[in-house]
Amino acid sequence: MSGHSTYEFKNPLIRWFDSRLPIFSMIKAQAIDFPTPRNLNYWWVFGGIAATMLVVQLVTGIVLVMHYTPHVDLAFDSVEKIMRDVNYGWLLRWLHANGAAFFFLAVYIHIFRGLYYGSYKAPREVLWMIGIVILIVMMATAFMGYVLPWGQMSYWAAVVITNLFSAIPWVGETIVQWLWGGFSVDNPTLQRFFSLHYLLPFVLAALVFLHIWALHVTGNNNPDGIEVKTEQDTLPFHPYYTMKDLYAILVFFLVFLAFVFYSPWYMGHAINFVPADPLVTPAHIVPEWYFLPQYAMLRAVPDKLGGVVVMFASLIVPMFLPWLDRSPVRSLRYRPLTRFFFWLFAIACLVLGIAGAQPAEGAWLWVARIGTLYYFAYFLVILPLMGKLEKPKPVPPSITDAVLSRGGH
Ligand code: HEM
Repeated sequence: MSGHSTYEFKNPLIRWFDSRLPIFSMIKAQAIDFPTPRNLNYWWVFGGIAATMLVVQLVTGIVLVMHYTPHVDLAFDSVEKIMRDVNYGWLLRWLHANGAAFFFLAVYIHIFRGLYYGSYKAPREVLWMIGIVILIVMMATAFMGYVLPWGQMSYWAAVVITNLFSAIPWVGETIVQWLWGGFSVDNPTLQRFFSLHYLLPFVLAALVFLHIWALHVTGNNNPDGIEVKTEQDTLPFHPYYTMKDLYAILVFFLVFLAFVFYSPWYMGHAINFVPADPLVTPAHIVPEWYFLPQYAMLRAVPDKLGGVVVMFASLIVPMFLPWLDRSPVRSLRYRPLTRFFFWLFAIACLVLGIAGAQPAEGAWLWVARIGTLYYFAYFLVILPLMGKLEKPKPVPPSITDAVLSRGGH
């Protein structure tokens, strides 16, 4: 992405500017001519969709902030004022709240795409690891954002999650008080969550820039997992993938906006329409759906510290995937046995999500325990073993061969 190109633009003004700051050369090389594998399928549109959702969150968030007050006595009412009195305030809020959920949906699909097609393997390890850091920062951002309306679920989510740190031996209590900025979840907590919720999306934007930079150094992986060998294996990014991505973004928005306009609180919890009350604990404290698998893992372990360690480990372990899965073949298209275990893994994540929404007792607790075991076994046992034991199906010599063998052109 150095942008040093020898391309001569026809327009003299652009030529003049570009020879001083080669922004136009960079756009031409990285977003227009960029050689992209010709066999990418629709699972490759979700990175662009995620980037679009980040922009939606930034724009709606910045306007919401103009009417929101981060104070325990005023936050809940200021959100109600946004909903009732601010012109199109309801739309801003529903776009932002549902936007967070659809952002996670896009990123989760994006991650499973990477898992299936082995996009984390060399030389894309750094790209993958930046992705995991993005996921963790996204989670922190969403959690702190959820606290801001200061409803019952907001408040109690803050209490439950900050209290997790008290499980750390010796220093736990001190850390929790440091997080709170006092001796309970209170005004200083709300204000620091607000400050960080505003800051972190910009950190995310910077991380996404690095993510795409790393992508443009290695180039895309593809559904066959074969490296690009000749120019014939690729197409220029524009117009082929710009148009495909745009189409996918529009379809995704149809679904997203259907929720915003017709069922904006479908994914929410009614109890968050009740103002925060430190004296009344809700019967069930349940996070948003995109945290449910991690929540299930947290509660699957009988010991508090153990639960906290397992939950954080579920986010850290995938970072090491490029070194855990040593199979020379990337795409699960050519690894039928691993593919079977992959689908079990996807089911385990869904089941963990369902278990996370149930009270942590009885049969569901055991379902969550088995799901948690499988989650870690997939990364730490199954993938390393499969890399050694499975004999993959023959991989076509090039992307072009793979496309032609399926009757493509
Ligand atoms: C804000 C969130 C994210 C944004 C905006 C984003 C954006 C993108 C874009 C635009 C691409 C290229 C198009 C595509 O392959 O879909 C990409 C590729 C990729 N991303 Fe992300 N990403 C995000 C999060 C993540 C996460 C959480 C991971 C993994 C943990 C990840 C892993 C990857 C990998 C491995 C590739 C290369 C894919 C390939 O070429 O096969 N990304 N990302």
